[in-house]
Amino acid sequence: MKSATTASRTAVLVCQGRAVADMWDDVGPFSDPTAARLLLDDERVAVDLASDDAPPPGWGLRMEWEMLRATAEVIVPRTVAIDDAVRERVSDQVVILGAGLDGRAWRMTELAGSDVFEVDHPASQQAKRSRAEGMTPAARDVRFVPVDFGRDRLDEALVAQGHRTDGPTTWVWEGVVPYLDRTDVEATMRVIDDLSAPGSRLIVNYQAPSTSAALGRLVMGAMTTLSRRPNPLAGEPTRSTWTAEAMRELLETHGFTVARDDDLLALAVESGRPVRQRRSLANGRVVVADLS
Ligand SMILES: C[S@@+](CC[C@H](N)C(=O)[O-])C[C@H]1O[C@@H](n2cnc3c(N)ncnc32)[C@H](O)[C@@H]1O
Repeated sequence: MKSATTASRTAVLVCQGRAVADMWDDVGPFSDPTAARLLLDDERVAVDLASDDAPPPGWGLRMEWEMLRATAEVIVPRTVAIDDAVRERVSDQVVILGAGLDGRAWRMTELAGSDVFEVDHPASQQAKRSRAEGMTPAARDVRFVPVDFGRDRLDEALVAQGHRTDGPTTWVWEGVVPYLDRTDVEATMRVIDDLSAPGSRLIVNYQAPSTSAALGRLVMGAMTTLSRRPNPLAGEPTRSTWTAEAMRELLETHGFTVARDDDLLALAVESGRPVRQRRSLANGRVVVADLS
């Protein structure tokens, strides 16, 4: 259970992954200098360890080193694909659903003319706000919209913060769909549909069904218990996976046309970087869909 101001554990993990990747020099166009700034001191210590190619001594530290490096490898193509899709169609309004410790509003200069609406679980968002204090946004404005997708009215919350339907919106939904059940994904999709003017773009990162991923989570749970380290996935179980066909059907039902839908493994291979996490990469997908 989250306290009133505790960041989501998975949000911290992916932010640490971005901070590790930001220290690597073979990551092509990937860059996220905001990631390290959004972390707390103890979270940054683990990043420093993981940025070293030599594994640390001891099972517990070694496990964390492996986990952060694996996360970093998956995060690179995912971030680059989403950044490219945002840049390709910059709107006045960018809504980041389940923003976690996303740094786009602070690092993407292309958003200088955009209002960024950061939607997240109220507890995670509170933590993000205090972590981002003193950072200067690159976006025209950052508006915080506290919403629990399973409980609150996303449409009312966005409108209350000044979201408009008289112009297009770019929606970013990264790393969140797996933590929502199908009903909540469909309900959120209905709101996206209602609030999207022609010209809007929706970018969704989701997980394809995979037995090996489910097994990997079980192994991670067992290993973290044995090494007496916290399991970042413990409080946020996977609730939905989608085949590319099911995701396409969902988006098309709401009037969006899929421009592309790539698996992260294909994107990583295409980039020419060394690929180690083939299975994790293969299960992650980024779909880009537009409303004409
Ligand atoms: C893995 S993190 C991803 C964060 C960010 N999008 C990124 O990629 O760095 C998952 C995010 O989804 C949010 N989330 C999960 N379930 C949620 C819910 N029911 N309502 C609102 N946010 C939720 C968490 O608070 C967290 O910030």
